[in-house]
Amino acid sequence: MNNAPIGIFDSGLGGLTILKALQKTLPAERLIYFGDTANVPYGSKSRETVTRFSRDIAQFLEQKGVKLIIVACNTASALALTRLRKTCRVPVLGVIEPGAQKAVRSSRGGRIAVLGTEATVKSGAYRQQILKLAPHAKVTQVPCPLFVPLVEEGWSKNPVTRLIAAQYLKPLAKTQADTVILGCTHYPVLKPVIANVLGKQVQLVDSAQTLAQEVKNYLISHDEQAQGRGSLTIYASDAPERFKHLAKHILGTRLKTVRLKKLNA
Ligand code: DGL
Repeated sequence: MNNAPIGIFDSGLGGLTILKALQKTLPAERLIYFGDTANVPYGSKSRETVTRFSRDIAQFLEQKGVKLIIVACNTASALALTRLRKTCRVPVLGVIEPGAQKAVRSSRGGRIAVLGTEATVKSGAYRQQILKLAPHAKVTQVPCPLFVPLVEEGWSKNPVTRLIAAQYLKPLAKTQADTVILGCTHYPVLKPVIANVLGKQVQLVDSAQTLAQEVKNYLISHDEQAQGRGSLTIYASDAPERFKHLAKHILGTRLKTVRLKKLNA
């Protein structure tokens, strides 16, 4: 048994989709979420910059005494995970491996598409991971940079979002992808729109549930599960009130408090 908290971080709000799955699967755990709202978006930044932000956050979470760090951000997982695993004292889990595993398991024809930020797509992290598990898979990658601001704006049901999705997803008709990875924390919020554009025959996969199960298995096998009632503490590196307001769109419930924590301050 280990009642130390679990640290989760993302560039901003999107990681709340992962947090939701963790709360459901691990109701006894104390969760500390950090949204780097001062530096979002990560998706258009360099590996060096995203790694620096990620290390600062991981350091803060370690100071809070976490037993495990979850990199809920796909971009940070793609660019900084290897480095974080070297520098952190506690284990670090990312979202790329569980997402790729789930896609390979779900795909019938081995034609898998990855939607992600520019940086995630450029890193090729998903492609690499998929090909490790299924060397004959056909992987297409599509950067969808406008999806993040649309979600942050609360426009997931706006007709503009459907038009943009149709434009981004056009190339997938040619590749006949049977499985599509929502390779960015914000994209699960757009699942209904993406599903509507792609049609029922295409399976949409995100990392949240697979990751939550992986965390559970890890805690059980290391005898590090918490006991008692879980809790949630949320930090944002800028504009916590705005974070609190927008979090409703993703969590479906209101957050009580979001604390301000400026990095390196
Ligand atoms: N959280 C990021 C991700 O999952 C998306 C937002 C950003 O660009 O920072 O890739």
